[in-house]
Order: sequence, then structure tokens, then C-alpha cells
Amino acid sequence: MTDPFREQVMTLPDQFGHCPSPRGSLPRDGRLIIVGLGGSGLAGEFFGLHLEGSRETLVVRDLALPEIRDHDALLAISYSGNTRETLSVWHEAGDRGLARAAVASGGRLLEEAREHDLPHVEIPGGMAPRSGLGYLLRGCWSLVPGSPEPGWDEVGAHLRKMVTHWVEPDDSSSPIDEVVSSLRGSLPVFLTWGSGSRLAGRRWVADLAENAKVPSVVWEFPESAHNAIMTLSREAPRDQPIAGVILGEPRDKPAREYFRTVVSLLEEHGARTSLVEEPHEDSWIHALGLAHLGDWASVLLAETIGVEASSLSLMDDLKEQLARKEEGNE
Ligand code: PA5
Repeated sequence: MTDPFREQVMTLPDQFGHCPSPRGSLPRDGRLIIVGLGGSGLAGEFFGLHLEGSRETLVVRDLALPEIRDHDALLAISYSGNTRETLSVWHEAGDRGLARAAVASGGRLLEEAREHDLPHVEIPGGMAPRSGLGYLLRGCWSLVPGSPEPGWDEVGAHLRKMVTHWVEPDDSSSPIDEVVSSLRGSLPVFLTWGSGSRLAGRRWVADLAENAKVPSVVWEFPESAHNAIMTLSREAPRDQPIAGVILGEPRDKPAREYFRTVVSLLEEHGARTSLVEEPHEDSWIHALGLAHLGDWASVLLAETIGVEASSLSLMDDLKEQLARKEEGNE
């Protein structure tokens, strides 16, 4: 029997084929402030990346709005619909008269949007928020007029191809297994270049934390070439082994050459790196593919080390205690 959490991860490619039924939409112009935390926040980042060049966006992970400008609008994303930070910004936006819209599978956010007749979309529920990336992205897109329509079928097809190549190859052991075994007992470090690969790296970090319960970091090149790489140099102490994972190669030729020089020097200095790559001509789809492999790697690592991928005990305790304090203050 397939583990239920793994089953959720398996649904991601199909989620991009789900057609949402939004109620209303946001204004077409003005800056879009996106609020969301955790898995919902990452969906907001991916949506922001998709809008790059067509609309200014700002992703907020806070209890309060940043400085606002005329014509700003708020897109609140919360899979559960009950995340306190998201609700706090949502309420402040209402008090300050911003146009606002909500993406949720239920909870207070959806209830309030319905009650006040505000634009909203209900996405399918019953999953861990981080597993609902496809539903969340389609939901976001449905509320923001003028945002270019991604080739949703192509996203699903690329993610399926990624899984076929990396997770379920026909003949040998899966390439993802090698990546996963390199991560075990090491500090995973994701070598990224550019916004898509960086965002994929952040998804891997969140996935490894929430699913496998292990820490990891993102290195952003070229900046990391000026500091972080020294921890992989031949004179570094190596008390804690580091597993470098390169998330995609830069598209641009000079950047690619620069990056390749870094990687070959890292190897000369004795560092272990592996390359995760599945090219796609659309940089957004490419980034989503790299991110999806992080879902798989984290679930497989969780299974290998024997931790429950779905459990978020400490986060749940925190949410509960904060809610109790808030009730006490009311
Ligand atoms: O993926 C998860 O379970 C978390 O990171 C949640 O996304 C986070 O706690 C916020 O919850 P929600 O997405 O329901 O707003």
C-alpha cells in the first residue's frame, strides 16, 4: 500500500489540470501584495515568479502589511484558511481599504471572503498545504486578470516526465535514490543560480525541514562564490559533511560557464556534488520541475531515516499555543 503522504505528492502533476471556479477577481492593475506562509507562501512566490515582467508583486510573510501604495491589491493564500499571520494581513488590508481576494480550501479566510462577498476561490482540500501547490497556483491565477495563462497541460506533462526520469526509471535504480543517499547524514546545500533555481532551492529546504525534518540551506550564486564556497574548500574542517546539490544549470551562456567553473573547482577541492536537472524551454516550468523533485527527495529521505513525513507536531503545538494566548487576550 502506498503511504498516504506519498500519494499526495504523486497528485501534483494532475493538480495542474484542475480547473478552479473563482468568484470574482482582483483589479487588473496595480501592485499585487501576496500574503502566505509555509507551503502557501511558496505557492505565492511561484505565482510571483510567473508574473515577473507583467505585474509587480511583493510576497509578504508577516503579521502586518508593508508600506502600501495607491492601487495595491492583496492576494491572500492559505491552504487551510486558518493561518494567523495570513488572516492578520487580510484583516489589516480590509481595514485599510485594499482590494483583496482569497485562495483557500476552507477555514476562516474562505468564510470571511464569502460573507463579505469578496473575490475568492475554493480549492480542493484534505491535503497537507505543501502538497497542494498545483491547486494553489491555479487558484491564484484564476483571481488575477491579465496574468498570462501558463500552459497548464505542459506543466503537468513536464512534472510527470521528471518523475519518470528521476523517480521511476524502467531499468536501473532511480537517480533520485543517489541524491537521497548523498543527503543522508550530511548538511544538504543547494547550489542555485537565478530566480527559478533559487525558488526551487527554497522548496527543497522547506520540504526537507517539514517532511524529513532535516536542516539544509540554499546557496545563491554568484554571491555564494564570494563566501559560502569556502566551507567546501580543501582547508575546511569538514566536521559536518556537506552534500552539494546543483539545482539546474543557468540558461545564459556566461553564467553557465561561470557556474561550471565553480562546480569543477569544488570537485578539485574534494567536495561532493550532484546535479539535478531536467531542462524545459519555459523557465517557470523548469523551476517547478526542479521543485517537485524536492518533494520526492524529502519523502524518500523521510522513509529512509524513519520519520513521518506528514507529522508537523512542533508547528501544530505552536499554532495551538498562539491561538490559546489570543483567546485569553480577547
Ligand atoms: O505545508 C505546510 O503544511 C505548512 O508549511 C503550511 O503551509 C503553513 O503552516 C501555513 O498553513 P496554510 O498553508 O494552511 O496557510
